Amino acid sequence: MALLEIVTLPEPVLRRKARKVTDFGPELQTLIDDMVETMRAAPGVGLAAPQVAQSLRLIVVEYAEESEDENAEPAEPKLYTVVNPEITRTSEETVIGTEGCLSIPSILGDVERFEAITVKGQNRRGQPTTIKAKGWLARIFQHEIDHLDGIVFVDRAEKAWKVETQPGQVLIDNV
Ligand code: NI
Repeated sequence: MALLEIVTLPEPVLRRKARKVTDFGPELQTLIDDMVETMRAAPGVGLAAPQVAQSLRLIVVEYAEESEDENAEPAEPKLYTVVNPEITRTSEETVIGTEGCLSIPSILGDVERFEAITVKGQNRRGQPTTIKAKGWLARIFQHEIDHLDGIVFVDRAEKAWKVETQPGQVLIDNV
């Protein structure tokens, strides 16, 4: 496995519509493993292939869903790999939350997102997968899927501002 370089704006690959994945062979498997390692090292809770200069419709997300029971043990983070993801359902309710992005260092912004979504796509072996996400997990998926269409969070932000980030601080892709 290898750490990949995360590209930042104004790198053109971040503004391109990414290509559909059709080949689930060893190269894709290596890219997925490397993206997971790169996301964890960043650290971040999601990463889209264009952020590692691969114009492919592929995202990885790793996040522990918050429990509604405050006495519950903290949940284990769950890893999602979604190839060719599509948002097929959205809630009526939207929420505003503060996001950051590994490809736009030192900027945060308030972004309105659907509170809950359904994502359909394929797993790393090419089999169909469906994920229902709400809250912060739904926000991460919306942020990462935007990257596949060349959209970054500042395009959608109602306001954005500069921050001093600490090394190791998790923002979204980094949310
Ligand atoms: Ni991002």
